[in-house]
Amino acid sequence: MENAARTADHLARLSQRGDDLRVKLAELLPGSAPFVWEVGSGHGHFLTAFAQAHPEELFIGIDVILERIERANRKRNRARLDRLHFVRAEARLFLESLPVAATFKAIYVLFPDPWPKRRHHKHRLMQPDFLSLVAGRAGEGARLYFRTDHEPYFQDVEAAVRQHAQWKIVEESWPFEMRTVFQERAESYRSLVAVRV
Ligand SMILES: C[S@@+](CC[C@H](N)C(=O)[O-])C[C@H]1O[C@@H](n2cnc3c(N)ncnc32)[C@H](O)[C@@H]1O
Repeated sequence: MENAARTADHLARLSQRGDDLRVKLAELLPGSAPFVWEVGSGHGHFLTAFAQAHPEELFIGIDVILERIERANRKRNRARLDRLHFVRAEARLFLESLPVAATFKAIYVLFPDPWPKRRHHKHRLMQPDFLSLVAGRAGEGARLYFRTDHEPYFQDVEAAVRQHAQWKIVEESWPFEMRTVFQERAESYRSLVAVRV
């Protein structure tokens, strides 16, 4: 099976796991305190360092690959960060499975898979309907942080955010910086910050 087809098949199977995820998220998010969400957290470098610098915040990182989540959780446990959680989940399923009162303080999407071929663009994470779903869970003033080394993906996301009624692009620096695995490999990259209006 071709790589792209295998990934799509994998994502479809993950979407069967909604019930387990709902139970897990109800345990992790019992109240309504806004939390920082990282989508595609990989081995957890970024969010672990972020949580070390801000132990007062609540963080959840998700990834679809179990081995990455396990590695990230080992980092989290070694650092004893009890307000940081890594959960194996697909992003849209995660959004559907959140407890009713849960809201985002900030959302980080760092170097998501760019799906460069046009016929694969439908697999991209950052699409107008995804921006709407995230906005539905983001309190007013919440920030969306996006970074990629794939210029066409950046331009498409920038255009989608500009056209979106609930997000406004702002010129701000990021409150926390830590080079991710994919950032280390990138020759250059572009970043965007949007505020939930
Ligand atoms: C290119 S890697 C970037 C990892 C990390 N953010 C970094 O910058 O090094 C993209 C990550 O997103 C994960 N991913 C892809 N699609 C996803 C989805 N729909 N939901 C959650 N994670 C996803 C992949 O498994 C992978 O770990």
